Amino acid sequence: LAGAAAVVLALAGCALVPGSVSPVDEVAFDTELAIPPLAESRVVDGTRVFSLTAQEGTSELVPGVQTRTWGFDGPYLGPTLRAERGERVAVEVTNDLPEPTSVHWHGMHLPAAMDGGPHQEVAPGETWRPTWRIDQPAATLWYHPHPHGQTEKHVYRGLAGLFLLDDDASSAADLPHTYGVDDVPVVVQDKVLDDDGQLELDDDGEEPGTLGDVVLTNGTRGAYHEVTSERVRLRLLNGSTARTYQLGFEDREMDLVATDGGLLDAPVRTDDVRLAPGERAEVVVRMEPGETTRLHSFEAELGGVVVPFAMGGNDAFDVLELRAADRLTPSPEPAWSPSAHAEEDALHAQDASVTRTFQLDDRQINGRRMDLGRVDVTSTVGDTEVWEVRSIVPMPHSFHVHDVQFRVLSVDGDPPPPELAGPKDTVYLEPQRTYRLLLRFEDYTDPDMPYMFHCHMLWHEDQGMMGQFVVVEPGQEAGTVPAPEHGA
Ligand code: C2O
Ligand code: CU
Repeated sequence: LAGAAAVVLALAGCALVPGSVSPVDEVAFDTELAIPPLAESRVVDGTRVFSLTAQEGTSELVPGVQTRTWGFDGPYLGPTLRAERGERVAVEVTNDLPEPTSVHWHGMHLPAAMDGGPHQEVAPGETWRPTWRIDQPAATLWYHPHPHGQTEKHVYRGLAGLFLLDDDASSAADLPHTYGVDDVPVVVQDKVLDDDGQLELDDDGEEPGTLGDVVLTNGTRGAYHEVTSERVRLRLLNGSTARTYQLGFEDREMDLVATDGGLLDAPVRTDDVRLAPGERAEVVVRMEPGETTRLHSFEAELGGVVVPFAMGGNDAFDVLELRAADRLTPSPEPAWSPSAHAEEDALHAQDASVTRTFQLDDRQINGRRMDLGRVDVTSTVGDTEVWEVRSIVPMPHSFHVHDVQFRVLSVDGDPPPPELAGPKDTVYLEPQRTYRLLLRFEDYTDPDMPYMFHCHMLWHEDQGMMGQFVVVEPGQEAGTVPAPEHGA
């Protein structure tokens, strides 16, 4: 604990003072939670085809205030895409914005050319058509732009949506599963609105990026959801650019059932769950007839010490109100059995043949800034690797790897806490601790097209806290990565 206190004191002393940020406002919770619509799709020659158009619009993020925003197929956020394991999907991504964007499928296992990173930008007026087969467990994934150096701005303006995957285990599970009713997406984001009610991004170099005093769920401030069953499943996504939340309830525990990449082995009873930008968690909450409770963000702690607000820590505030009806339909205890694919999906530490080190300072990874024309890591298909990741400065980061779901083997040598024991693609790095991640590149080799790994605090990412890896056949070398014109 003394060590943790020292880290936090170092954090506070780091001249990392919040800029113009004020604490989150207390608000009334009297607007019904908006549920992103399920995206329509059509099946063409066995492929499920979606379409998404990035566009400009105007939204009422705060009641009575008109804010210029960006969204997919609407003014803010985007529809929820949904597909089954084994299905082939395609998405027609059209860019109706005045500048290039891209759409990355965060958490998805797919070929690098379909990944939607900075190498797959879509010019204004153009349509990009990625296609791939869903080949991973049921999970709450998401999609968002990833244009070179502009990700923070595009996500902050509102471009993001959920991509839900189902499989045999999730469909048979005793878990609430009626979308928008007892299986509720909750995208948590924070904003700064200027005097005209317009989105403001603090890009004045203050760590850790913009921390807003307006907290939204699915694009609404002060939202409530009417609960009509004994249990409700919340699919939580931290879609913020910089803020880390510690989400839970002051008056009850909840069951954590899934992390980024899918279901845990069994539910974990917990008070709260910490979500850094990019992370997801599925929790099941129990309600009594007629009662009201609020999803709350607690002050973030490291080893029992509150993390300063300036570091993406929190003052405490409410996020979403749940109002139970006077009569609730019964819901079973959360339970499920492993998927039919569990054996083939399993990663085993003893299979690891490569260990790599990733050291994050305040701007770079392993002393390098992102270069679109440079391959930082070459991995061989079929190999299981250990990535040792550490923030070497007294500041946290949110480390994300494209293409794979990894397992956290240990944190500073200790086994991971239960909330880090499931499938993950993004992990909060407490300062100056070593996270050993186990990952495997199953297929999809392409020596000429990289995937990304980066900090998901989007200002850090855009500053260059990102690197590229390619997956190659045994004995193959990395090729020449095409550097788009804006280069590095
Ligand atoms: Cu959610 Cu590389 O990003
Ligand atoms: Cu970072």
